[in-house]
Amino acid sequence: MTAVLELQNVTKRFGGLSAVKSVSMTLNAGEIVFIIGPNGAGKTTVFNLISGFFHPNEGAILFQGKNVTHMSPHRIARMGIGRTVQIVKPLAGLTVLENVMLGAFMHTRLRSHAEGEAAKILAFLQMGHLSKSPARGLPLAALKRLEIARARATKPKLILLDEVVSGLTTSEAMALADLVKRLPEWGISVVGGVEHVMQVVMKIADRVIVLDHGAKIAEGAPAEVVKLPEVIEAYLGPKYKELAP
Ligand SMILES: Nc1ncnc2c1ncn2[C@@H]1O[C@H](COP(=O)(O)OP(=O)(O)OP(=O)(O)O)[C@@H](O)[C@H]1O
Ligand SMILES: [Mg+2]
Repeated sequence: MTAVLELQNVTKRFGGLSAVKSVSMTLNAGEIVFIIGPNGAGKTTVFNLISGFFHPNEGAILFQGKNVTHMSPHRIARMGIGRTVQIVKPLAGLTVLENVMLGAFMHTRLRSHAEGEAAKILAFLQMGHLSKSPARGLPLAALKRLEIARARATKPKLILLDEVVSGLTTSEAMALADLVKRLPEWGISVVGGVEHVMQVVMKIADRVIVLDHGAKIAEGAPAEVVKLPEVIEAYLGPKYKELAP
C-alpha cells in the first residue's frame, strides 16, 4: 500500500543553518505520528516543508505517492493536506461557523453546503454551541479546536497539527487529544508536533519521531522512545529520568 506521506532525506537550510538535516519518515493511512523535540529542533520547519511554504534544498516529499516537493502551498492544500499553525489566527471578525465555512468553500461554492458541512464538523469537535460566537475573544482551547475544524473542512487526507495543545491546561490538552485521536475515523492521518506535553503524545501517537538540531535521533512507539538514553539526554532531561518508571 502506498504511504500517505513520505519524506526522503529532506534537508532545509536557512543561510548557514541547517534547520532540517536529511530527515526521512513514512506515514501510513490512519496513522497518528508525533514529531517531538526541543525548541528550535526543526518541527515547524518540517511542517512548512510538507505544506509547501518552504521547499527543501535536498530530498523529496511524496504525498500519496506523488512528488509534491516543489509544489505551491495552494496546490498541496488542494491535494489534501490541511494544517493548523503554531500561532492561531482565525478571522476575528467572522463567527466560528463562518471561519469553518471558509475551509469548506475549497470544495463547494454553495453557501448551504458549506454551512451544513461546517455545522457537522463543529458538532464533532463539541463546539456547536459556539457556532454563532465571534471568533474574536474565544479562549485558547476553543481557538485550537477552531483551527482543527477549519483544517478538517478542507477535507484533507492528512492534517498537520503544529503545537496544537501548547498553552492549554492539562485537562484541556487531554480533551483535545481525545478528539485528535478520532480523526482517522474520518479517513484522516495526522502528523503532530509538540515541544512538550508528553502525556498527550503517549496517549494518542502510534509512533513518535524525535528531532534534535534538525536531525532525527530516534523513532518508534512512544513508550519505547521515551526510554532511550539519547532521547532523555537531548530532550526530556534528567527530570524526566527521575519521573520515569
Ligand atoms: N524562516 C526562517 N528563517 C531563518 N531561520 C529559520 C526560519 N524558520 C526557522 N528557522 C530556524 O530554524 C531552526 C528550527 O526552527 P523551527 O521553528 O522549525 O523549530 P521548532 O522545533 O518548531 O521550535 P519551537 O519548539 O520553538 O516551535 C531554528 O534555529 C530557527 O531559528
Ligand atoms: Mg515550532
